[in-house]
Amino acid sequence: MIKVEHLRKKFGNIVPLKDINVTINDGEVVSIIGPSGTGKSTFLRCLNLLDTPTSGHIWIDDEEITKKNAPVYKIRQKIGFVFQSFNLYEHLTAVENVMYAQVKLLNKTRQEAYDYSIMLLNTVGLQGKAMQYPSELSGGQKQRVAIARTLALDPDIILFDEPTSALDPLMVGEVADTIYDLAKMGKTMIIVTHEMKFAKKISNRILFFADGIVYDEGTPEEIFDYPTKEKTKLFMQNIGVRTFEVIKDVTDYYDAMNEVRKFVAKYDVDNSYVHKLELLVEEFTFNFFKEYAKHEEKMKVILRCDKKTADVSCSFYHNIERNFLDNRNITISSRLITTLSSLIEEKEINEDGYNKILECVLTKEEN
Ligand SMILES: Nc1ncnc2c1ncn2[C@@H]1O[C@H](COP(=O)(O)OP(=O)(O)OP(=O)(O)O)[C@@H](O)[C@H]1O
Ligand SMILES: [Mg+2]
Repeated sequence: MIKVEHLRKKFGNIVPLKDINVTINDGEVVSIIGPSGTGKSTFLRCLNLLDTPTSGHIWIDDEEITKKNAPVYKIRQKIGFVFQSFNLYEHLTAVENVMYAQVKLLNKTRQEAYDYSIMLLNTVGLQGKAMQYPSELSGGQKQRVAIARTLALDPDIILFDEPTSALDPLMVGEVADTIYDLAKMGKTMIIVTHEMKFAKKISNRILFFADGIVYDEGTPEEIFDYPTKEKTKLFMQNIGVRTFEVIKDVTDYYDAMNEVRKFVAKYDVDNSYVHKLELLVEEFTFNFFKEYAKHEEKMKVILRCDKKTADVSCSFYHNIERNFLDNRNITISSRLITTLSSLIEEKEINEDGYNKILECVLTKEEN
């Protein structure tokens, strides 16, 4: 159990944590959300004494870790920390990364540490990757090595600070699944995350940080779907529309389509939109590059997915002066666009050197 009372942390004039009070029971999975700079990372860092609280008390089980001469080393062993940026040793293989602290801190023999590490790498789905160096692994694989490394010390509690935010959209799922498996094993976990869908799936409680306190807390449903407090509501509205600028200075058609697939995976775009979105981007980029491949012209596409309504829209931009659609050489099919989208805005608006030429709100399949 973790108990936090009147935790305060200041850095000079900045006081990100004013008065944090919370109790987290064994086996709970708690996600922390909230605006940037509200002390979410600082809170995690205080929990395993990477930051020293200015005042207040923290107990892990029955031990007060904020008292003088608390055994920092023993506490860190109990509380694992998984960072956003993995922090692996680049000169060690995956298995050596997982072995390292076991040999150094737990005085295990290399063989014992090796066997256990292989087992842990299997647990996080990295069979056959033990001998790879971090540079030979994808972001998602690196993060899973980092999770295995944290598990190696058999922590009772694991803290995750935005474990998926440095990942390519396609890798988010695999790391989320790994964390989900740990949750099912009954580990106590505290996760700072901006991935709301993930937070919803994995957590039994959500803490919303604002104003230096736990401003709001509740079940995922209470916080995400039916927020009642003012700042929570506002936060949820603002994260409602997720803009993902997928394609900027696209180099070719394949590049564009690849980005669309990432977008679909990252925002879990409703199936009824996927095909339409692909068709639209395909039509636009294919024709664009057919005409302009040899020139300096650039294009970008912005895809948006509204998390609340799940509506999808896309805007197309290029840096060519004349009206794209009037140019008879480029036969982007207006009919296709009309069939696929409910709203078409065909006007040139200049935004940082690019002219917006089309904005489409995709229509949902009725069935
Ligand atoms: N070591 C430090 N020295 C000085 N100021 C710090 C330090 N660490 C954090 N801060 C400040 O404390 C505040 C809270 O930072 P923190 O990183 O905990 O926020 P956060 O909620 O995790 O934000 P984000 O969502 O952007 O990660 C920020 O204003 C930050 O600049
Ligand atoms: Mg942070």
